[in-house]
Amino acid sequence: MRIYACADYRTMSRQAANIISAQVIFKPDCILGLATGSTPIGTYAQLVEWYKKGDLSFAEVRSVNLDEYLGLAPDHIQSYRYFMQKNLFDHVDIKPENTNVPNGLAEDPEAECRRYDRIIEGFGGVDLQLLGMGHNGHIGFNEPSNAFPTDTHVVELTHSTIEANKRFFASEADVPHKALTMGVRSILQAKAVLMVVSGADKAEVVHKAFCGPVTPEVPASILQLHRNVILVGDMEALHLLPKEVLHLCD
Ligand code: F6R
Repeated sequence: MRIYACADYRTMSRQAANIISAQVIFKPDCILGLATGSTPIGTYAQLVEWYKKGDLSFAEVRSVNLDEYLGLAPDHIQSYRYFMQKNLFDHVDIKPENTNVPNGLAEDPEAECRRYDRIIEGFGGVDLQLLGMGHNGHIGFNEPSNAFPTDTHVVELTHSTIEANKRFFASEADVPHKALTMGVRSILQAKAVLMVVSGADKAEVVHKAFCGPVTPEVPASILQLHRNVILVGDMEALHLLPKEVLHLCD
């Protein structure tokens, strides 16, 4: 595992974008696993900037997003499909048909989960999976529990996640209580995992996930078992990790 400790959010975003762009340049037809949330917004903005400069093309890239709220239409302003369009897809040359986000309006959510797993299998797995981490250690919407959920599944969001995500909605009552999420197996099968973390409020969970026991009570801790994880964070989020494991970047 390699850990890049960046001075601030901007540097963190540039470093994460550097790693994604290295993947895309190295393998133009790669499969990118993508995440939403506030942490990767700067990373996507940097990728868009490099695309606009002509330094990067997504023309052959195919993507699979981690998750989507159940019950939200793709054009709902808080849906993850909408987030991806506004932060990345609408601004680069990725082909719309090559982007995949679970369908939050699926009539049969279980069938949608199976369909999603077939897409990932059909791709032969993800080359680089981008992840954020929730305050409770969730990855995708794999919430703390007594077992690691394997495949794409419907999840009941925890109170802590609803609480954290209500900032994006008009009120807490508007936050959906269920989501579709890729399971831990697909995440672990990615050839490389890039996690981005930012802010002092993430420091404790980052420490638990990477220095504590591997446990489904902290889903991100499973990444300790992956052979190719890159953690990119700002100093505030990483300050509880032992200094000797950090590679400083500015
Ligand atoms: C989003 C996702 C979530 C977020 C996590 C952190 O697709 O899968 O696991 O990565 O909730 O969110 P932020 O970055 O807003 O702190």
